[in-house]
Amino acid sequence: MYQLLDGKATALQIKDEIANEVRHLTEQGHRAPHLAAVIVGTDGASMTYVANKEKSSHEVGFTSSVYRMSETTSEQQLLETIEFLNNDSDIDGFIVQLPLPKHINEQKVVNAISPKKDVDGFTPYNIGRMVLGEDCFTPATPMGICTLLERYGIETEGKHCVVVGRSNIVGTPVANLLSRNKKSANCTVTLCHSRTRNLKEITLQADILVVAIGKPEFITADMVKPGAVVVDVGIHRVPDASKKNGYRVIGDVKHSEVDPLCSWVTPVPGGVGPLTIVSLLENTLKAYKRSHQM
Ligand code: GUN
Repeated sequence: MYQLLDGKATALQIKDEIANEVRHLTEQGHRAPHLAAVIVGTDGASMTYVANKEKSSHEVGFTSSVYRMSETTSEQQLLETIEFLNNDSDIDGFIVQLPLPKHINEQKVVNAISPKKDVDGFTPYNIGRMVLGEDCFTPATPMGICTLLERYGIETEGKHCVVVGRSNIVGTPVANLLSRNKKSANCTVTLCHSRTRNLKEITLQADILVVAIGKPEFITADMVKPGAVVVDVGIHRVPDASKKNGYRVIGDVKHSEVDPLCSWVTPVPGGVGPLTIVSLLENTLKAYKRSHQM
């Protein structure tokens, strides 16, 4: 019988720990940490993410602000907003919600974020430090995955971890984090992507399978070794007339057939997603402490 890596419950626990720390700070007369988010356009999934970030910020006692910009915002206007946020000493960290509209160069925008406020850990400075094993803001989703494995005491040392998907946001950084010589890491990592040959032969070797390919129910039972730990990073909305809001959320893994094979598996929703937001809060608290020399 498989067990769930319950991201929702773990996130609640960690949010409680953060809230206690924030309460302690404000009782001592300090201001609350402040996380800001920039969103360009009205993409449904992005608006949900940003709303969740705002809600979670308030739950732990952070100040939160959202800069909503229209779909037709120019790259220059967005760069000016980033410059403003970089220089506002009341804001400890901020994120620019991705993806951005096609007419805006995403990497140019990310490069403009001050590494000191880059709580998403997306800037070249923070990515570089992560790869070197130096203190940094670690990208939120990979950090959330590692936290989940650690909190559930999943053994990682010497295990074969197969990562499916090589995005800058998830696949590439999580492969790096799980391979490094640290506690709750030390895996042998294989990074698979769209050009990988014989994908199934490789995923069948995985003790830990991390799936971030962005394709609904891509991983099926024939691709999973019995007893594997499966982490599903996918989030897809599919129409479902039986639901009040008209849709349900599915992942990159076909859970109905894969779950019975697993030792541990993340549900979708309620697996990795809540931990991503918690990691963002943890990074913001870290940015706050750094700027207050704590
Ligand atoms: N879009 C999907 N995931 C993320 C994330 O973690 N951060 C940002 N900024 N955009 C995203």
